[in-house]
Amino acid sequence: KNYHNILTESHEKVGLITLNRPKALNALSSDLIHEVNNALEKYDDDPNIGAIVITGNERAFAAGADIKEMMDKTFAEVYKTNFLGHWGKISDIKKPIIAAVNGFALGGGCELAMSCDIIYAGDKAIFGQPEIKLGIIPGAGGTQRLVRAIGKSKAMEIVLTGRNFKAQEAEQWGLVSKVLPADKVLDEAIRLGQEIASLSQPSIQAAKESINKAFELSLKEGTHFERRLFYSLFGLNDKKEGMSAFTDKREPKWTHN
Ligand code: HXC
Repeated sequence: KNYHNILTESHEKVGLITLNRPKALNALSSDLIHEVNNALEKYDDDPNIGAIVITGNERAFAAGADIKEMMDKTFAEVYKTNFLGHWGKISDIKKPIIAAVNGFALGGGCELAMSCDIIYAGDKAIFGQPEIKLGIIPGAGGTQRLVRAIGKSKAMEIVLTGRNFKAQEAEQWGLVSKVLPADKVLDEAIRLGQEIASLSQPSIQAAKESINKAFELSLKEGTHFERRLFYSLFGLNDKKEGMSAFTDKREPKWTHN
């Protein structure tokens, strides 16, 4: 498939999506997000792929939604067309998605990274939700996901001032899981993807689904949901294989069913 705003290539069992509008610092136009969604769905349906990495370039993961595209839009237009509605698609992807972030991850760029399951950041990465400086607010989950990731006081300060924050702060606050030298981020994200993709896909998907339920359910409902999923995995050949391999002191051979 020919994309105009992204590049795709697979590294063994990891599907890589590279945002590719370098002249606009990977500003996330509607077309670009449609292409990302399409690539994500293809990888999600591909049995040879076990994890997905989204990255940008050294200068920018993405500097936000495309301001030039939004500039002349009216309330009626954005409301009637459910503008940005398609940004939610990423949350329907079943396989784990890792964001490998270098440079700017601002506005929609930060929101896209937060929509992924794991964030690795380069030591010079810059995060932020600067929308308030444009007279708007985050519109792709920023006010919701940031507060869940770093707590109310910090999220308020960041969203209400539009101030950027550094990779090291993002790691300290729990938004990103690792800070790495800039030239190592993508390699390490792919390596992490390979590690995840080498495991039993149904249990990986169940684990992702269960963790994400923590954001939706009460503790009682969430632990109940977890136990139901846990029981269901006892129906898998991979559960038998994993436990047999352990007792036989050998490596498991996953069949993903
Ligand atoms: C459209 C953008 C853009 C954006 C950068 N560019 N960010 N175009 N939308 N979000 C373009 C610039 O217009 C410029 O194009 C080129 O990329 C290079 O950017 P410069 O500003 O010249 O680079 P620099 O001086 O290094 O500054 C980098 C920057 C700045 C600090 C990241 O570009 C910036 O502040 N960008 C906007 C960040 C932002 O406000 N993001 C939130 C967007 S709102 P030309 O043609 O002039 O060379 C948002 C809403 C989310 O995301 C809602 C849900 C999705």
